[in-house]
Amino acid sequence: MPLLEASPDRIAAAARRVMARCDELARVSAQSGAIERVYLSPEHARVNRLAAEWMREVGLRTWQDAAGNQLGRIERSADPDPAAPALMIGSHLDTVKDAGRFDGIIGVLMALEVVRLLRQESEGVSRVPLPFAVEVAAFSDEEGTRFGKALLGSSAVAGTWNDAWWTLADEDGVTLRQAFLEFGLDPGRIGEAARRPDHLVAYLEAHIEQGPELDRAGEPLAVVSSIASARRFQLTVEGEARHAGGTPYDMRRDALLGASEAALAVERICRSEHHIIGTVGQLEAFPGAVNVVPGEAHLSVDLRGELDGERDRVWDEISRELDDIMGRRGLRWQAREVHNAPAVRCGLLLQDVVREGIVHAVERRSDEPPVIFSRAGHDAMAIGSITDVGMLFLRNPDGVSHHPDEAVSAADVALGIRALTESVLQLAADRL
Ligand code: HGY
Ligand code: MN
Ligand code: MN
Repeated sequence: MPLLEASPDRIAAAARRVMARCDELARVSAQSGAIERVYLSPEHARVNRLAAEWMREVGLRTWQDAAGNQLGRIERSADPDPAAPALMIGSHLDTVKDAGRFDGIIGVLMALEVVRLLRQESEGVSRVPLPFAVEVAAFSDEEGTRFGKALLGSSAVAGTWNDAWWTLADEDGVTLRQAFLEFGLDPGRIGEAARRPDHLVAYLEAHIEQGPELDRAGEPLAVVSSIASARRFQLTVEGEARHAGGTPYDMRRDALLGASEAALAVERICRSEHHIIGTVGQLEAFPGAVNVVPGEAHLSVDLRGELDGERDRVWDEISRELDDIMGRRGLRWQAREVHNAPAVRCGLLLQDVVREGIVHAVERRSDEPPVIFSRAGHDAMAIGSITDVGMLFLRNPDGVSHHPDEAVSAADVALGIRALTESVLQLAADRL
């Protein structure tokens, strides 16, 4: 029996508001004509102010934490207690370069609509009729676009911040520590962002699938079973810069060609594996002159897998292949690991309540809602180290994401809002 009583019109209005706000947030960008919002930037500060305004509109008490995450909290109706454990619902507001307008953003905005649907006013104070408080989290750096290390905002909340990250630098050489200070944050207080396991009941996140599975299956929503483990590397290939005309091929040690073979090897090895995905997203030759054989090349490797061990075995295989390639070409190579996040399984109870939410939200065939392993990383991976996590996926037409054509339909957002709210009520019912 569905626990949420909300008219289709009310849910449709919520979906329209979410879509309009995705458009509004898309306009807060470092680039005109493209969406780019990175950690500790003026755009980050602006969307935090907007999100805080929208949080207060649905009765949340708001604060920006020591890592620049924007948070809001609303107390439970019965026996309100600011120290009571909270269900955290959220996602991230930062983006990749030239991003779409829904990755992360949709999850924060849908969380606000869940609160709006559940909120009750008593003596002018907002509460939720649940056995736990609700917190909405707008994480500040899930992508790692500026400093290369992903999940910085949610890692701070999970208490897994690593002080070695302070020396990470952006493409202008600004370190994370300097960026904190420029943003008005105190690096020495980063620990204050950390939450304890007993602060949280669980974490739920709605997100676009960022793949084509739901679209191909004709399904609007899915339960997420687990989130891929990720490792990211910056590789340097060293050869020898030489004259592009006078240097015979048998004397060349062309770093760019070594890096190019490496990129093809990553694709070939990963394609032959089940559930391992490898991508070379960055490749740069130095000195980068048209008439100089590249003496050095830099390339990134983003490696993901359903299971950590499988992923690590494939990285070892890739490394052996790169040894062969570089040896044959008289090149040297080295890899610096800049991100490592273990796979996270979604809690079984949370998978259940998300499935319940979908069953009640989507008029569908009798069989079960789809269950998907997320190949994309999410803040839930970081938060999974302090509490159980659950995720709801929304259909992402053609699976286009990390691209301006990223899309989601208002109809699916409406179904997602109903499902997410129902999931919260089912979780509450389970805890009563
Ligand atoms: O890269 C990812 O998987 C995520 O979108 N940050
Ligand atoms: Mn995301
Ligand atoms: Mn993303």
